[in-house]
Amino acid sequence: MGNVTVIGGQWGDEGKGKVIDWLANRADVVVRFQGGNNAGHTIVVGDKTYKLSLLPSGVVQGKLSVIGNGVVVDPWSLMDEIDRARSQGLEVSPDILILADNATLILPLHRDLDQAREARAGAGKIGTTGRGIGPAYEDKVGRRAIRFADLADREALETKIERLLAHHGALRLGLGLPEVTPAMVMDQILEIAPRVSPYVKPAWRILGQAIRDGRRVLFEGAQATLLDVDHGTYPYVTSSNTVAGQAAAGAGVGPQAGGYVLGIVKAYTTRVGEGPFPTELHDEVGQRLGERGHEFGTVTGRPRRCGWFDAALVRQSIMVGGIQGVVLTKLDVLDGFKTLKICTGYTLRGEPVDYLPAGLRDQAGLEPVYEEIEGWSDTTAGARSWKDLPAAAVKYVRRIEELIGAPVVLLSTSPQRDDTIMMRDPFQD
Ligand code: GDP
Ligand code: IMO
Ligand code: MG
Repeated sequence: MGNVTVIGGQWGDEGKGKVIDWLANRADVVVRFQGGNNAGHTIVVGDKTYKLSLLPSGVVQGKLSVIGNGVVVDPWSLMDEIDRARSQGLEVSPDILILADNATLILPLHRDLDQAREARAGAGKIGTTGRGIGPAYEDKVGRRAIRFADLADREALETKIERLLAHHGALRLGLGLPEVTPAMVMDQILEIAPRVSPYVKPAWRILGQAIRDGRRVLFEGAQATLLDVDHGTYPYVTSSNTVAGQAAAGAGVGPQAGGYVLGIVKAYTTRVGEGPFPTELHDEVGQRLGERGHEFGTVTGRPRRCGWFDAALVRQSIMVGGIQGVVLTKLDVLDGFKTLKICTGYTLRGEPVDYLPAGLRDQAGLEPVYEEIEGWSDTTAGARSWKDLPAAAVKYVRRIEELIGAPVVLLSTSPQRDDTIMMRDPFQD
């Protein structure tokens, strides 16, 4: 039995949290490998709802949970989340939560920069979550970031803060933001360091040993392929690689450790923030999808944009992510539609195109080509077995499989953990 890597196959919020929590039962370790607290993963168990941003979704099942080096971590946000999780009865101690010592910190100055840039951009804004994700990754790649290992070395920290502020000072001045001094940043860090330090460990060693011991690892992706900094709708993307290929680098394990690649895909399409969205619906159908699917961002509360299922996009996601099987979520949201539409490809300036071109203007100019498919009046909500599904719903799933070129191995029919239908166990593949 191998490991499993879970990634989003559209623009995020596909239900990764629900699926990872469900799969965590079969795993020993859950590890996050990119993103930060821009992610919002919802897990519903009975009458309890857990909203996780930085904590790996394995914490709900009490599994060893690792925040890998590829994640950018706002330590204040992390501590708040740990407090919240504890108040909901979860055990989140250094025994089960590991924070990679080579992960990058998000500081208040990163949030300032993210928000100031967005405010300045006006109509050209990206629609970020305002959490400082982009600026923190920029500092990491710019080799001036503070990492968790630095918290234990006050002298090195001083030099690093000065170096960081040499860069941010100029930016802040240009953007009209108030000055931040090295002493201010040092105070902020010294205030939070004792609280996070017990979790800080060489995560790569712990994971490497777990893999050698034959323990099963679940790699938890945040965001999704179309938000990937290389493969998404650039520049309307997040600042990390979200594809399965990132799992190894962002956790500190070999590429073979990722195992089976499972893509999470909603039965329709949503996106939050700005950027191209070929199948977006501005009519009452889009509104109905949003209302039935409760499509409001977990992190920012913004309404999500909604549209029909785009098989061309998912096909592309499957190829660039090496997705071997798909989990189709929120099928129940489509209950009661007389007819449904699936986008099978596009036209661009009158010519057929079957993928998302890399250029932004081309992406924005795509006209979807739809295929109509019969809806169903019975309910799929809460279905736990394939035979409980109306025939038309089965047909919809089968057609999606044909169009995307990958099997649907799990189906989700409500937010609840157990309202899940398994056709194939991804850990057995
Ligand atoms: P994530 O970011 O991919 O983990 O997804 P989010 O948690 O941000 O958004 C997915 C939303 O859909 C959450 O509110 C889930 O509780 C909910 N959800 C997940 N699966 C299903 C499903 O099969 N049906 C319905 N109706 N809701 C679902
Ligand atoms: P989960 O893991 C949906 C979007 C933002 C914005 C763009 C850049 O819950 O699926 P950022 O703050 O990352 O610089 O914002 O990316 N975005 C998400 N959209 N789900 C997410 O995560 C997202 N994380 C970032 O809305 O358009
Ligand atoms: Mg989400």
